[in-house]
Amino acid sequence: MIPINAPQVGKEEIDAVAKVLKSGILTNGLGAGPMVTAFEKNFASFMKAKHGIAMNSGTAALHSSLAASGLKGGDEVILPSFTFVATAEAVILAGAKPVFADIDPATYTITAENIEKALTKKTKAIMPVDLYGLPADAKPIREIADKKGLKIIEDAAQAHGASYKGKPPGAFADAACWSFYGSKNMTTGEGGMITTNDDKIASTIRLIRSHGEKRKYTTVMLGHNYHMAEIQAAIGIEQLKKLLGFVAKRRHNAKRLTEKLEKARNLQLPTEPEGFKHSWYLYTVRMKTARQEQRDKVVEELIEKEIGAVVTYPNPIHRMPYYSKFAKHRLPVTEKAAKQVLSLPVHPGVTSKQIDFIGETVTSRFICNEKGKY
Ligand SMILES: Cc1ncc(COP(=O)(O)O)c(C=O)c1O
Repeated sequence: MIPINAPQVGKEEIDAVAKVLKSGILTNGLGAGPMVTAFEKNFASFMKAKHGIAMNSGTAALHSSLAASGLKGGDEVILPSFTFVATAEAVILAGAKPVFADIDPATYTITAENIEKALTKKTKAIMPVDLYGLPADAKPIREIADKKGLKIIEDAAQAHGASYKGKPPGAFADAACWSFYGSKNMTTGEGGMITTNDDKIASTIRLIRSHGEKRKYTTVMLGHNYHMAEIQAAIGIEQLKKLLGFVAKRRHNAKRLTEKLEKARNLQLPTEPEGFKHSWYLYTVRMKTARQEQRDKVVEELIEKEIGAVVTYPNPIHRMPYYSKFAKHRLPVTEKAAKQVLSLPVHPGVTSKQIDFIGETVTSRFICNEKGKY
């Protein structure tokens, strides 16, 4: 099976972990041990941000960023429904209400127009998601936020190595949240990070990360245990050194796959608009005229051929049993995308030969008949 994503770990990570184990320093009371501190510094510098705050997951990063933005009960946060559930979960954990807005049909990211339609007097924050590794169009979103006095917490969990208008994700946000889950472009097994230029958000997140403690046993606000372990940070330091190489390989694979798939006329291929650099966390195509059952059947067939195709996401959040009570606006673009998309492997471990096999298998299955039917 060619998996959809696979951790790319070598001797460097293994040696780094062994070194931490031998040092005897596995963590730190405030979650700020030497490896964590070094990883934060390196990651923030890579993302051209003033602060990096390491966490034990991307979900913890999202939750802490929202909590540090001073949300209160009844406040609303606008976000897409076409994302991983953690984006919405973090809003509720921070005591606010998720308001789902629709996405663009070509990029799958939230649009400024749809955000405008979802604004109310209670709106306090916007969460653009850099879905599949393509940054959301953040500049017009920043303009709305500035006009209305809103915070932007960007979910960049899938976008390590991407850029927007020549800048890393988060440049137009108050904070950007990253995940180092095992499938991501760079990993620490589990883990997360926040990057921000805002001193107050950064210092509040540091408190939240460690039980609200400024010093040990001196809690000044409600917090959690969101510490990243030293072993994880040691892996992260090595993975960050390799990130540009990983993304270059993903870009190479994505380009080659696009060349193979271009003749499949009833497939909508992923886009990389001018000024955007995709990190290709997922290479996602759309079966333009398919019903959900047809798409699901194709995914099954690809898996039978040992191509690890996945649907991300078959169930938009507002359709999930727990979250349906928050459905407010019509989301036709989201609902259609959820029925028609499927993602194909382009991670750095996929060889050119395997990309050709994926391309040929997909095109042989998808070439239009004369009526354009699957
Ligand atoms: C878009 C998105 N948001 C949030 C998360 C949550 O990150 P984590 O799994 O590290 O908690 C993920 C990844 O799993 C994600 O893909």
